[in-house]
Formats: sequence, C-alpha cells, structure tokens
Amino acid sequence: MNPNYSLFLLHAKIDEMAKFINLGKFIQGEKNSIEQIRSYFKINEWAYKRFHSQDGFMHFRIAKNGYFTDEDVYHQPDSVSNFIKPGDVVVELGYGRGANLLYLAHCYPDARFIGFDLYPLKTKDVPANVTTFQQDYSSLHQLEDNSVDVLYAFETIVHNTDKEKIYREVCRVLKPGGVVVVYDYALSDRFETYDPYLQKVITLLSKGGAAAMIESLEELNAHYANCGLKLEKSTDYTRETLPDLKRLERKAAKIMKRPMVARLMFWFLPEQFVANIILGYLGYDSGNAGIGTYREWVLRKP
Ligand SMILES: C[S@@+](CC[C@H](N)C(=O)[O-])C[C@H]1O[C@@H](n2cnc3c(N)ncnc32)[C@H](O)[C@@H]1O
Repeated sequence: MNPNYSLFLLHAKIDEMAKFINLGKFIQGEKNSIEQIRSYFKINEWAYKRFHSQDGFMHFRIAKNGYFTDEDVYHQPDSVSNFIKPGDVVVELGYGRGANLLYLAHCYPDARFIGFDLYPLKTKDVPANVTTFQQDYSSLHQLEDNSVDVLYAFETIVHNTDKEKIYREVCRVLKPGGVVVVYDYALSDRFETYDPYLQKVITLLSKGGAAAMIESLEELNAHYANCGLKLEKSTDYTRETLPDLKRLERKAAKIMKRPMVARLMFWFLPEQFVANIILGYLGYDSGNAGIGTYREWVLRKP
C-alpha cells in the first residue's frame, strides 16, 4: 500500500479514536517505570499468548515472501546462532516467556545461557545450561567484567529511558571481541521533525506499550558509540514485519470500527490492555509510512 495513504489513515485514525477514547490518558506522564513495565506485561500476558505466539515468543515475525509463517518467529534467535560457539557464555536481556532462551539452549547444549527479565521463567523443564535472574537488567552485577561472549536483546531495550546505562553495563560484561545482537524500533527521523498528529501517533506507540519515547536511528547509534560499542551492521526489517503488523491491525480494527463496542470495552478493560489495542491499530500504518522502523543491530566490543 502506498505510504502516503498510511499517512492519511494515521491522521484519520487519531481523529476517529479521539471521539470515543481519552487519548490524553495514554500520552500524559511517565508510563515506563519498572513497575509499569512489569504490570503492562502481566496484564497483556493473555493477549501476547493469543495473538503473538502460543510458544511464548513475544517479538514480530520476519516474513520473507510478503506473508508470514509460524517459522518466522525463529528469525531473531537464529540470527544470534551465527555467533555462538561451544563453551560460550550467552546472555539474553528481557527473555519474556523464555522462548528464545530455551530454543537456543536446546540448540547449543555446549554453551551456557543466562537470562534477565522482570518476569520469572515459568517453564518447568529448564535445561541445565540455563540460569535466569528476575531483576532489572540495567545492573548485571552477577556477571564479571569481560565474561560474556554473546549478548542479545529483542524488543526490550526500547522500554527503558536510560539506554546508555544499559549499554555501559553490556560493554562492561562483554569480552573484547564479544558481540551484541539487538532487534528494536527506531524512528526514521527525530521526533521534533514530525507534525503534531504523527507526534501523537509516536507517543501512543511508545507510551502505550510501556516503552520510553522511541528514538531516531541517529540517536540510538550515538548511544552505542558513547558506550564503547562498535556498530558492525544495521539492517532495516520494517517491510518484513508488515504482514504481522497487518494481522494485528485487523484484530484491533474489529473493535475500533465499532465505537459503541469500543466505548463499552474500554470502560471495563484495564488501561494497559486498551493501550495495546491502540498499538495494534496504529502499528501497521506507522511502519508502512516509514515513521517507526524495525531493525537489527550487530554491535561489537573492540
Ligand atoms: C516484548 S517482550 C520481548 C520478550 C523476548 N525478548 C522475546 O523476544 O520474546 C519485552 C520483555 O522485556 C522485559 N524488560 C523490559 N525492560 C526490562 C528491564 N529494565 N529489566 C528486565 N526486563 C525488562 C519485559 O519484562 C518483557 O518481558
């Protein structure tokens, strides 16, 4: 679909939603304290399981041929596989329901996996080569300096405001030559360059998902460099996530297109659940219009 039409739709969707939702509620104030992140994922646990993946993956599918299959959730962990060698120490920041961690730990029984998340790992059969810590990962105090070979973080660092605190800690624990693989969101341009409607869209996408304000590619690359990480590769996967985003948009539209139903539902549902529906409604068009992008970064500690 022509990106200009998505721009038109984003403006129209903001006007349409404002008739039956108090959008200000989702925009004002801080929404991404550690407590708010924890509560967002608890409230949306059912929705992630139902609409993302039954197997516990909580990231987007990278569709190769314009349509997605269930296999596409393996793209992100498989891209980390390229760097794992026997005996390596591998760390996941924000393991969510543990799907990446368990998948990779089964694939590489000779490597050691350590995960950090605010959430406990609920799985019963955790392989012997996996250790998890339930805590804020902006401190990795259990890990010694220069002790980690590979570290990865999928769709998680975006939640945190102080990214340099996290990347300084990542740089501390990585061995020289150690690699970092990140999948996350970036704006194509700085927030100030967008019109007030699109700024509202970006704020809803950010704060609605208990994230910090999404930053531009330029700002994110500066964070990595400031913390001593060297950018090896950055790949734009926005197009490949559009089929998955379209699927979520269709589900959200079923509610949004019926203002009476939406009004009733939003009256009863928790705010952070409604916020997730709004994300689903705006995500496809913001990706198609090239405002919010989805990328992979490969970084290395020199
Ligand atoms: C969208 S989920 C992604 C889960 C997983 N990476 C995946 O690909 O399935 C984001 C996860 O990051 C975690 N998270 C965000 N900020 C965190 C922080 N500062 N410390 C620990 N976990 C955090 C959340 O609890 C949530 O489980």
